[in-house]
Amino acid sequence: MTAVDVERGPHPVIAIDGPAGSGKSTVSRALSERLGVERLDTGAMYRAVAWAALDRGIDPGDSAGVAALARSVAVTVGERVVADGCDITEAIRGPEVSAAVSAVAANPGVRVVLVELQRMWVAARGGGIIEGRDIGSVVFPQADLKIYLTASAAERARRRPEEGADAVARRDRQDSTRSVSPLEVADGARVIDTTERSVEEIVEEVVACL
Ligand code: DC
Repeated sequence: MTAVDVERGPHPVIAIDGPAGSGKSTVSRALSERLGVERLDTGAMYRAVAWAALDRGIDPGDSAGVAALARSVAVTVGERVVADGCDITEAIRGPEVSAAVSAVAANPGVRVVLVELQRMWVAARGGGIIEGRDIGSVVFPQADLKIYLTASAAERARRRPEEGADAVARRDRQDSTRSVSPLEVADGARVIDTTERSVEEIVEEVVACL
């Protein structure tokens, strides 16, 4: 092995980024089944920290308090999302958490903790499908494949009826304009507009890129 060889695991690292309602979870889930590779929903990790802050009465804007919480709370993200032994799978999708999560995600102290956990998750599995906002740009800039999903604002709002069009637009604005790791198209990412495409078509397009 030469010094420039990068240690590669048995699975590809596939980064899937995009705004709310762009189809990241649906596409990653289908891709995970198609390839037999596990998937990690990093948005659920930020939501779990936001949920824990609200649960403990910590102001989501209290940077030091929420960063300390991110370091101490034990979060497991899989088919179910569990925080300190409590199943919060449904609770993290509620409007209160959706309204608080962008402030939590803009906190650099929270991002340091969660990005480290995301890298450990991939290292432990030798690859994976990771969905979020900064996966191709910051967490895995050397990913084997970077996908950026998008869809029209009307379609994305339609996919998030419980949140509402205004709240989705506000969250995307916050996620795209924050100073740390904003949502952006990563260098080398393939952009796919999911507005009028079927999941199967998109999965085939992604697989063809591997
Ligand atoms: O994917 P989602 O809508 O469940 O994500 C919830 C929030 O978490 C989203 O508004 C932005 C934030 N997030 C982030 O900042 N970085 C990630 N890698 C994933 C999500």
